[in-house]
Amino acid sequence: MATHKLLLLPGDGIGPEIMTEVKKVIGWIEKRGVAAFTIEEDLVGGCAYDAHGRAISEGAMKKALAADAVIFGAVGGPKWDGVPYDVRPEAGLLRLRKDLGLFANLRPAICYPALADSSSLKREVVEGLDILIVRELTGGVYFGEPKEIVTLENGEKRAVDTQLYTTSEIERIARVAFDLARTRGNKVASAEKRNVMKSGVLWNQVVTRIGREDYPDVALEHVLADNCAMQLVRWPKQFDVVVCDNLFGDILSDVAAMLTGSLGMLPSASLGAPDPATGQRRALYEPVHGTAPDIAGKGVANPIAMIASFGMALRYSFGLGGEADLLDRAIAAVLDEGLRTPDIYTEGTVKVGTVAMGDAILAALDRLA
Ligand code: NAI
Ligand code: MG
Repeated sequence: MATHKLLLLPGDGIGPEIMTEVKKVIGWIEKRGVAAFTIEEDLVGGCAYDAHGRAISEGAMKKALAADAVIFGAVGGPKWDGVPYDVRPEAGLLRLRKDLGLFANLRPAICYPALADSSSLKREVVEGLDILIVRELTGGVYFGEPKEIVTLENGEKRAVDTQLYTTSEIERIARVAFDLARTRGNKVASAEKRNVMKSGVLWNQVVTRIGREDYPDVALEHVLADNCAMQLVRWPKQFDVVVCDNLFGDILSDVAAMLTGSLGMLPSASLGAPDPATGQRRALYEPVHGTAPDIAGKGVANPIAMIASFGMALRYSFGLGGEADLLDRAIAAVLDEGLRTPDIYTEGTVKVGTVAMGDAILAALDRLA
């Protein structure tokens, strides 16, 4: 039986409350006897700043580099609004992304049948939806140089951001998308704007070549990013895996997320390059939402985004796709029973807190296993 090294970084706000529920799920997986975990825990974000003046310590970074997966809560909050820029809570997450080389951001949009009526779209448009947005996370216009605001001779100002991608950056994100598609619906849609952007032309060429040479079995279509946004809202079920650059991915992943409901439901994964020796990728799993300072400490946070993020770790880092499926089914079952944290509560359902939701998911796991 494999032993996996986990680093838990609960962070601030509701982070510790929802991480407690993940620990129960980790315990359940161990009890099932399919994997063992060595678990380390450390501070990140505002709580780390309070403890030692940095958003993440070198010790915690070392643990992250040694871990098979980092399970991350969320960081930040009004308490730290005034702290210096380079030690602000977000710096902890940015340092992790950079030092672990996490270039691929995976955002699934899954519609649980019990929540299909909470979507702003019609039930038939979202029911049964299961798509995955793969966003390039470390390149593109958010990082390209020059990046500046300059004052021109006439006194006017000019702002510059640079959209920049190299062949190898596009290749590696394309491979992630194609590999994932093979484990799902075997379909990739590549979104760019080759009609108006040189980076879109190169993106299109590289994705086409990788698909033709190494993934001829995966269906590939190219879609202009603006059209992709429309299609996501019109008929999202036409997609399986959507791959795009950092900027388009930021927007398209948020669009896809809101097809299916509340922030409290949305998991994510960020993956790095495979280790040449083991094939294992560095990985960080985190909910899409933040620290929810408005409800922190009240015991009402929805733990599902955090638990589903751990489910992605089971699937993508530990080869436990069966257990990940089981966890997804347990979450669906609890929602079918009508249990809701306040953020997803609707009339006629049963309002529960963080701990009760976690316990119900565990009970469903016991029943379904
Ligand atoms: P937020 O996601 O923390 O909260 C937005 C709204 O959604 C709030 O009303 C909150 O109560 C609700 N919400 C979020 N997660 C929930 C959950 N699991 N269960 C129930 N309700 C939930 O975003 P906001 O308010 O913009 O940011 C708050 C803090 O979190 C800020 O300091 C921000 O910088 C930080 N943040 C951190 C992120 C991270 O660590 N990756 C991501 C986003 C924000
Ligand atoms: Mg965003």
